[in-house]
Amino acid sequence: MSNRKGLILAGGTGSRLWPITQGISKQLMPIYDKPMIYYPISVLMLAGIRDIGLITTPEDRHQFQTLLGDGSQWGLAITYLVQERPEGLAQAYIVGEDFLDGSASAMVLGDNIFFGHGLPEMLQAADLRTAGGTVFGYRVSDPQRYGVVAMDASGQVTQIVEKPKHPPSNYAVTGLYFLDGTAPARARQITPSDRGELEITSLLETYLREGALTVERMGRGFAWLDTGTHGSLLDAGNFVRTLQSRQGMQTGCPEEIAFQQDWIDRERLLSHADRYDKTDYGAYLRSLA
Ligand code: G1P
Repeated sequence: MSNRKGLILAGGTGSRLWPITQGISKQLMPIYDKPMIYYPISVLMLAGIRDIGLITTPEDRHQFQTLLGDGSQWGLAITYLVQERPEGLAQAYIVGEDFLDGSASAMVLGDNIFFGHGLPEMLQAADLRTAGGTVFGYRVSDPQRYGVVAMDASGQVTQIVEKPKHPPSNYAVTGLYFLDGTAPARARQITPSDRGELEITSLLETYLREGALTVERMGRGFAWLDTGTHGSLLDAGNFVRTLQSRQGMQTGCPEEIAFQQDWIDRERLLSHADRYDKTDYGAYLRSLA
């Protein structure tokens, strides 16, 4: 188990997804057979993290609370935190400062979906690096849409830049950040960008300047999926469906991870299975028990 606390940032309006997100938080929309938020929660759980601060907009908070409760059904403790306005990813560390209370953290964006062989091991390696920060680089064809990280021949980070017109590499920085306990204080030091946001890349730069930023590359065997447009949302659902039906295994299933981690017992798992009776999800949980 990790000593880190988790943060999930589920803010924003998903404006490129209008009109389907009207009145519905984007991160609660389905990716095939489960709500989007299940996938980032699963990533933190795979990292061994049980204490999670979930950051939402003021309007969306109750929707998440209705779905996830206090997290104890999966052996978690979920604390609800509110970001009043979407003023940048780095602001999550200021919103979460009291919750973190000096702890190191792992933050994942509520709409980022990761899949890959060896993901738990990669997360555990990042968890063990107690000082500094770790980010995950993923090769994409359109790096100008993301934070981009450049590396030298030995894999050391040389540059990190937000949505560059002329990207220094093809490696996007994914929405998963393992930072030490100094992150909130650093977030308070940075200034807003031209788009008026406290950029996560500005925060990461403070680590880079001290030689304290590590990048882990997620290679060919990984999928980091986008859910920001109607097409990519559907593609992500199809990806999960293809994988699950071919393998007969779930991806992003909090009940399964909680059971494997020994955070819930067999009886609890079976009660979840009963709840989803008549669905493939319920049958799957029953088969695990
Ligand atoms: C944000 C970050 C960017 C990162 C991306 C990952 O971008 O600013 O560095 O690569 O998330 O999803 P935004 O979603 O604000 O465009």
